[in-house]
Amino acid sequence: MKFFIDTANLAQIKEAQDMGVLDGVTTNPSLMAKEGIKGQNNILKHYVDICNITTGDVSAEVIATDFEGMVSEGESLAQLHERIVVKIPMIKDGIKAIKYFTEKGIKTNCTLVFSAGQALLAAKAGATYVSPFIGRLDDVSTDGLSLIDDIRLIYDNYGFETQILAASIRHPMHIIDCAKLGADVATCPLSAIMALLNHPLTTSGLAQFLADAKK
Ligand code: G3P
Repeated sequence: MKFFIDTANLAQIKEAQDMGVLDGVTTNPSLMAKEGIKGQNNILKHYVDICNITTGDVSAEVIATDFEGMVSEGESLAQLHERIVVKIPMIKDGIKAIKYFTEKGIKTNCTLVFSAGQALLAAKAGATYVSPFIGRLDDVSTDGLSLIDDIRLIYDNYGFETQILAASIRHPMHIIDCAKLGADVATCPLSAIMALLNHPLTTSGLAQFLADAKK
């Protein structure tokens, strides 16, 4: 399973990249705003800065919600760097835009996916990635992980090549469960990736080894 980091924070992206486990980055307008990145030029520069840290795909989201606007914005984003993936919302014009970019050989990430039907449409349009938001489903008392399971079954039934990018991950168990269910990618906060390191028996075992080494 690939690990993406879900942030626009350059220090966190660098930390994950330096650990050697990072396969890409996802951003969205909320994550850019959280880092205080404002103005079109600064936003475009920030995407290039992210591309220069990671060696993997970087999802950059369009703001337009009409077909022509998404195509225009997406083409500008795709020209920034060869590893930019145009992130497009799951709406009717978004599906048209995904089809358009697929035919032009530009990678896409269909975002804000909350149902198997939406994921099926994204795959039909040729999306490179589909982003089911599992944490936000859990937030409304719906099982986010069962959506990953459903999409995996549907994509495998028909050999769709769209990669399942589990998003809205909140904790390490989400990552482990997504891996068990066969998600292709998990995009995670750095805290969830780092939490995978922890086990009290590792901590106490290492302390014992170091103490014994001094004897
Ligand atoms: O990249 C989008 C997605 O991961 C959002 O996560 O935590 O805002 O639900 P969250």
